[in-house]
Amino acid sequence: MNEKKVRVGIIGCGIVAGSHVSGYLKSGMAEIIALSDSRVERAKALAEKYSLPRVGIYENYEDLLKDRNIDAVSICTPHHLHAEITVKAAEQGKHVLCEKPIAISLKQADEMIRACRRNEVKLAVVFQNRFSPDVQRVKKEFERGDFGIPIYGEAVVKWYREDKSYYHMDDVAKSWRGKWSTEGGGALINQTIHLVDMLQWIMGPVEYLYGIYDTMMHNIETEDIAVSILKFKNGAIGFILGSVNLQPQEDWVAIYGSKKSIVIGSDKMVAKEWDEKSGTRVRSVEERKETLTPFIGHDDAVRDFLEAIVLDRAPAVPGEEARKSLEIVLAIYKSHRTGGRVTLPIVE
Ligand SMILES: NC(=O)c1ccc[n+]([C@@H]2O[C@H](COP(=O)([O-])OP(=O)(O)OC[C@H]3O[C@@H](n4cnc5c(N)ncnc54)[C@H](O)[C@@H]3O)[C@@H](O)[C@H]2O)c1
Repeated sequence: MNEKKVRVGIIGCGIVAGSHVSGYLKSGMAEIIALSDSRVERAKALAEKYSLPRVGIYENYEDLLKDRNIDAVSICTPHHLHAEITVKAAEQGKHVLCEKPIAISLKQADEMIRACRRNEVKLAVVFQNRFSPDVQRVKKEFERGDFGIPIYGEAVVKWYREDKSYYHMDDVAKSWRGKWSTEGGGALINQTIHLVDMLQWIMGPVEYLYGIYDTMMHNIETEDIAVSILKFKNGAIGFILGSVNLQPQEDWVAIYGSKKSIVIGSDKMVAKEWDEKSGTRVRSVEERKETLTPFIGHDDAVRDFLEAIVLDRAPAVPGEEARKSLEIVLAIYKSHRTGGRVTLPIVE
């Protein structure tokens, strides 16, 4: 592998940015040379936290993009800015690692994909759970036909986010969270999309769905609870529940076939597996640390992005892949608004 380090800039220095910094530092393949945040004190604080004294600090991300020394950028800003920043980064010849969701509309996602193709730069989107060895194993087994006839797939996110300490935590949170124009949705597009991505990655495309949502516990515009029933193209039926209102918190992706099924969730619960030869196996939380860990950090996603650049190969989760979970989420919103079945692909 080429010894030259990839020179990176990070745009948006809030909660998630630290996971990117730490991933780049651990990779040994990158040098972080610039940070940008419209609240410049956040960029400075991040530089201090990770001891990056020589890093360039930019209030305006467009100035960061003009730096010819930068090969690649991580985009860790609010959702509505992902598209604008990606397109401008691509035009400056920078590779892009964008946080999920790829964007808040399919039109935006398509512009991002086109801009990166046109400028021959990589576009990778962070869906870190796809790098979990267990999620990869389930995907492989499903594709190999080990599950038999696909019957049912489920993504359940019962999470809790407090109105005050999450949506209204500070001026930055208030400026974008819980608004259709900036977050693009609520519990579905932000939190549940991780599991929607895993569900569709394993089960394949959705043919049609029905959805409803509501805002019950938060002083926000967007939904804090949503449910969808869906039909996959492979014939299976599916269910999605996404909420930031529910305690005790738990989550899982469950895949059921005629020969095998699996339920995997976060480390708060056990994992269950069944197959026609061995019957049901329940793995404890302790065992799962070794064997079933679907929810993992950013390191592998960052490393994959860097390898995609250095080896000039496609990233594991390119823009086209990240668009799929966005389309399902937007279809659920559309079904709620129209009161009926939404067949994919959707036209916005
Ligand atoms: N993959 C994951 O597990 C994961 C976890 C958390 C967040 N995220 C995603 O990361 C992104 C950011 O989320 P967060 O929780 O860190 O949000 P945040 O509000 O904590 O941080 C966003 C930062 O972007 C900055 N910003 C806003 N406008 C900007 C601009 N024009 N130029 C530069 N900076 C600007 C804000 O000042 C803020 O510091 C979102 O897309 C979110 O969905 C992903």
